[in-house]
Amino acid sequence: VITKVKARQILDSRGIPTVEVDLYTNKAMFRSSVPSGNSTGMYEAVELRDGDKGVYLGNGVAKAVKNINDKISEALIGMDPTLQSQIDHAMIDLDKTEKKGELGANAILAVSIAACKAGAAEKEVPLYKHIADLSGKANPMLPVPAFTVISGGRHAGNNLAIEEIMILPIGASRFEEALRMGSETYHHLKAVITEKFGPHNCNVGEDGGFAPNVSSFREALDLVKEAIGRAGYDEKIKIALDVAATNFCIGKRYDLDFQSPQKSGQDFKSAEDMMELYRQLCVEYPIVSIEDPFDKEDWEHFKDISSLAICQVVGDDLLMSNAKRIERAITESACNTLLLKVNQVGTVTEVIEVVKQAKEAHWGVVTSHRSGETVDSFIADLSVGLAAGQIKAGAPCRGERLEKYNQLLRIEEELGDQAVYAGEDWRQ
Ligand code: PGA
Ligand code: ZN
Repeated sequence: VITKVKARQILDSRGIPTVEVDLYTNKAMFRSSVPSGNSTGMYEAVELRDGDKGVYLGNGVAKAVKNINDKISEALIGMDPTLQSQIDHAMIDLDKTEKKGELGANAILAVSIAACKAGAAEKEVPLYKHIADLSGKANPMLPVPAFTVISGGRHAGNNLAIEEIMILPIGASRFEEALRMGSETYHHLKAVITEKFGPHNCNVGEDGGFAPNVSSFREALDLVKEAIGRAGYDEKIKIALDVAATNFCIGKRYDLDFQSPQKSGQDFKSAEDMMELYRQLCVEYPIVSIEDPFDKEDWEHFKDISSLAICQVVGDDLLMSNAKRIERAITESACNTLLLKVNQVGTVTEVIEVVKQAKEAHWGVVTSHRSGETVDSFIADLSVGLAAGQIKAGAPCRGERLEKYNQLLRIEEELGDQAVYAGEDWRQ
């Protein structure tokens, strides 16, 4: 049973406070910590921050920590850690609000994940196996990783409007090979950027992607294409984009120079211009996936691009991992893939539910990190246990990103002959 729950404030990969929790059972102590991102919307679970500008610029999480130590702890002591749904519902009931604003989704999620780890240990099974059991799905699967190789938008300080260019080693036969292909391509890309722009353009953004001062989408994509070619993976690696277009949509127009103060406002594109651009880019480059191609409230253009069927259309800011937004997107065919950010949901139980919802609609599922990460590798086990098919955890570089990818290596090793890599079936 759960004997003690103790939380503390730690710092995430951006140096911003977040919640860590130690949950004790008769067996051992189980630790987890929660991520945090740049994009927050009104439909996602509430991240409770102290708001005292004099302390960590208002970003402290002392209140969320106190809620765990005082309230959640008392409610959970004595509970069986294998009963994930009961634990999560005890916290949901204690919170009483729709978006977990009373206790904080950062407090609730930290405990929910720690309890999940404790539940796995209680059953003496690996974490991914416990998650697979909880979801009622028996076949774990190693996901295709989407490695961020170029960062822009609000994740870097360069002039690129688009937030991420990622590479997907779909043609690998195992996860281990996928990681090697990603790493080799990443290092070739560093060489390509150094040759074209000099070493000072090889600094990286928040997710570990390079942030060269390119002047267009195409210039950035050419660098990536060149790197894939030099690495020898032309047939095996595909490209994905996270445009995060909400960040540069002003009125109904898209400001492709929003990152550059002196040029901002000079290169406005309409939604139709953007649509045409995507259509061309999908022909010119091996792009198989586009995330948030339009503003998060522009349901019409999301529907239009999905109906073109030129690539996978991922809803991140569009959906905010919110069950009602997902329902609407399924009904209206506004996209066909869920970007799953666990901290926008708030409990493991509800995460399993939204993944089911997406899968029942035959959508793809991308298990996602946040720009502010910790060394917790929970999403790696989650992606395998739920057979999500895809994971996006940043570059094959920087500790907090690699913690997820390295955990997938360990899982693949443990599964041995039983290991299945999603590969060409990455969308199912
Ligand atoms: P965020 O970005 O974690 O900063 O919100 C991730 C994404 O847009 O996919
Ligand atoms: Zn995104």
